[in-house]
Amino acid sequence: MSEKVRIGCIGCGGNAKGHMRGLGNVEDAQLVAVCDLVKDLAEAAAGEFNARPYTNMNEMLDKEGLDAVYISIPVHTHGAPEMAAIERGLPFLVEKPVARTMETAREIEKAVADKDIQTAVGYQLRYTHGANLARELLDGKTIGMAVAKYWCGTGRGNKWTQQFEKSGGQILEQATHTIDMLRNLVGDVEEVYNVAANRVLGDIDCPDVNSLTMKFANGAVGSMSTCWHLDPKDWSNANVVDVLFDANTLHFAGGKISVTPEIEGVDLEPKPAQTIDAAFVRAVKTKDFSGIKSPYADAVKTMAVSIAAIQSAETGKAVRLSEV
Ligand SMILES: NC(=O)c1ccc[n+]([C@@H]2O[C@H](COP(=O)([O-])OP(=O)(O)OC[C@H]3O[C@@H](n4cnc5c(N)ncnc54)[C@H](O)[C@@H]3O)[C@@H](O)[C@H]2O)c1
Repeated sequence: MSEKVRIGCIGCGGNAKGHMRGLGNVEDAQLVAVCDLVKDLAEAAAGEFNARPYTNMNEMLDKEGLDAVYISIPVHTHGAPEMAAIERGLPFLVEKPVARTMETAREIEKAVADKDIQTAVGYQLRYTHGANLARELLDGKTIGMAVAKYWCGTGRGNKWTQQFEKSGGQILEQATHTIDMLRNLVGDVEEVYNVAANRVLGDIDCPDVNSLTMKFANGAVGSMSTCWHLDPKDWSNANVVDVLFDANTLHFAGGKISVTPEIEGVDLEPKPAQTIDAAFVRAVKTKDFSGIKSPYADAVKTMAVSIAAIQSAETGKAVRLSEV
């Protein structure tokens, strides 16, 4: 491998630009090429980040001698980009949630395993100091239950995120971060019951509230609520997870944690942690992916919880994850 990790990015939308900026702070990374179906977006990103623009991902993958690929595209468009990377034996970082349907996710998961491709999924909260510390603190503890929320607002428009068939709505496209943190801190989910409604955002084709009850495989219980009809500028209640263990409550919010009552000798001061981009580039460079906290197969399990919640809201019945 060349000294720097040569990266190409499929998709040049809002999220991809965040990664492109993030890669600029990673010494071993070199963003060499960017691709978007929309030529103007590809050219604008190429100009900003000093990369070559493409509108055809296959052309980019064939010409650029890449070491790794970023895939940051709308939820319903997954499939071909991952397969293109897999066919060429390239490790990839793909954004969450990994697909709109379990069928697509499982097909990619199988191809990843068959070809032994290294992957990372964009659950960046797992890389925060708070999440690292929370896992250490909870190790070996008995968790009774967890209570989580993802409350925020969405702008009005007709973006794919607000079209249920394309995004799966807030419970799949956004609250997947909170579900992933529940899985990260508590463990795998076994069963979900969910009720959903569109109460306030009548003109948006997705539920704007969800209320989930969950059973975890280790016996803990949990609940989570999502709301999409609040002020879009207020993110103070998004990605909040309370874990109740022994006689304590661990409160995770926005990558930081607090514990009540306080535990003596535990330093909860926020400290810098390796970003997801830095962790991925390091993994590709060293071929050691042990620092990747959410590989593809694990992210499929997180996605399945959202799909179970969607199915439960549709059928009015609890859904076991083994049936999804
Ligand atoms: N991790 C996070 O916190 C976070 C935050 C925001 C978005 N996301 C995720 O990132 C992904 C992208 O979201 P976004 O808001 O940037 O969407 P976006 O619509 O702004 O951008 C997606 C871009 O992908 C392009 N595209 C689609 N298929 C392509 C293909 N085959 N080849 C090249 N380009 C292609 C589209 O033209 C579009 O410009 C989604 O999965 C979203 O859920 C993650």
